[in-house]
Amino acid sequence: MKINHLDAFSDNYIWTMESEGKLAIVDPGDAKPVHEYIKKTGYVLTDVLITHHHWDHTGGLEEVISEYGCSAYGPSGGHIKGITNPLQDNENFHILDNFEFRAFSAPGHTNDQLSYFCDKTKKPILFSGDTLFYAGCGRLFEGTPGDMLFSMDRYKELPPSTLVYCGHEYTESNLKFAMAVEPDNQDILQSMKKVQEARSMNKPSLPSQIDTEFKINPFMRCRELSVIEAAENYSKRKLKSTAEVLGEIRNWKDNF
Ligand SMILES: [Fe+2]
Repeated sequence: MKINHLDAFSDNYIWTMESEGKLAIVDPGDAKPVHEYIKKTGYVLTDVLITHHHWDHTGGLEEVISEYGCSAYGPSGGHIKGITNPLQDNENFHILDNFEFRAFSAPGHTNDQLSYFCDKTKKPILFSGDTLFYAGCGRLFEGTPGDMLFSMDRYKELPPSTLVYCGHEYTESNLKFAMAVEPDNQDILQSMKKVQEARSMNKPSLPSQIDTEFKINPFMRCRELSVIEAAENYSKRKLKSTAEVLGEIRNWKDNF
């Protein structure tokens, strides 16, 4: 399977998976780049994966479904028009004929958020939507800090070599913030160098990798003393739980 990206809006990615002339896509917020890509490549679109209900991830879904008659996997509940195969937490399904994926619930940014994991590829892959970003996490629009902590802990259970494909190019600003939280963390500096190089050539900073996130992502590192201390300095109070630490780090990022 080959993974590629289409640009949408100012900083969204529509991820594509390609195998034997067939195409699957993740989060078509806009149908136009999908049409153009199919026209250019001649691929047959068979599957769409949706991570959550936000318009910049779902806006092109109905048009894509009616044009290509493909399957659309996504959160259950009936609130996203165009989903043909609603999924539950920990449900397995197949795309592109033989690639088995597992959908799992990853709340925090939205309550309906699903992440998609596959280990039938060369390296395991994850589509994390707007829950886990490279060096960051999504804003808490619907969920609580406890929800986001639950999701971060789920990601920690994935194989360390898992490649992480998230929904937005937010990496540079996330790394700047991560540096403010942990100024002595050399891994953040190293990631910044790599990412700036990729961005200067107009390439995506993605994918990230789960073991990199362990080392640099403040939202994954809420049990580290350096992050706890930074959160307590920011909030000017003693924090009693890991969820509180995550909540304060998120507040800080929202105002950074
Ligand atoms: Fe979102």
